[in-house]
Amino acid sequence: MDSVAVGAYWEANAAEWTRQSRAGLDVYRDALNTPAFLAMLPLVEGLTGLDIGCGEGTNTRQVAARAAKMTAVDIAPTFIAHAEASEAADPRGIDYKVADAALLPFDEATFDFATAFMSMMDVADQQTALKEAFRVLKPGGFFQFSILHPCFVPPVRRNIRSANGEPVAVEIADYFRRTNGDVDTWHFSSLPKEEREGIEPFRVPRFHRTMSDWVSMCVAAGFAIEAFGEPMADEALAAREPVVADTRIAPIFLHIRLRKQG
Ligand SMILES: C[S@@+](CC[C@H](N)C(=O)[O-])C[C@H]1O[C@@H](n2cnc3c(N)ncnc32)[C@H](O)[C@@H]1O
Repeated sequence: MDSVAVGAYWEANAAEWTRQSRAGLDVYRDALNTPAFLAMLPLVEGLTGLDIGCGEGTNTRQVAARAAKMTAVDIAPTFIAHAEASEAADPRGIDYKVADAALLPFDEATFDFATAFMSMMDVADQQTALKEAFRVLKPGGFFQFSILHPCFVPPVRRNIRSANGEPVAVEIADYFRRTNGDVDTWHFSSLPKEEREGIEPFRVPRFHRTMSDWVSMCVAAGFAIEAFGEPMADEALAAREPVVADTRIAPIFLHIRLRKQG
């Protein structure tokens, strides 16, 4: 599947995704994944940054709130329209553009840093997207991104639960089966079951790669690998937001920070 086809899937998801995520239904993102990502982010105050695959822009706004001058791109125009509406209502100085991560409309060495929150595993041509991120960074700049953990969220994954519903183990399969746009169909876990019937599920093309594929692609793009993060809910968070309790069994997300050495 190519970027144009991937973009059409995301365009179809965008309005409902924006509505649900802004209603607080993306609990993994808001309670665990984004806070952990921001905790790992180096200081960005006064720097110019690019957010790749920004969606409706909530995470871009959090980076901008750390006093970075942000530009952000997404392949789906409806996501960019929602992000621009938030910017118009409450300006953070963010410049949004519709663009493909594999064909960034910026000159070489434009940005001090780049981020990509949960978008790189959705990009059809990840190797080219990594090369593009490298190209638009200034020497010395970093690229930090989060993805579904390649080891613990391969094409087949199932939570195994105790009799009272608590996650106790994870069953995984097909780790070595690279996918090229197999479409996953799902709702946010927090969308109440009784509401699901009337709401179309998200359809998300997946491009699963192994851990060694990711390392090879990052290095082939020219980057040095600087840091990994694997967010895990602590006991208090798991008690407050049981949806994320399964991250205490094995990580669902992987955070990677790369450096374009100066
Ligand atoms: C899981 S969503 C994450 C959105 C946002 N970063 C967030 O954390 O809420 C993945 C995003 O990647 C975008 N995307 C997929 N392929 C892309 C590409 N080739 N170029 C730019 N964006 C892309 C989708 O449109 C979607 O907004």
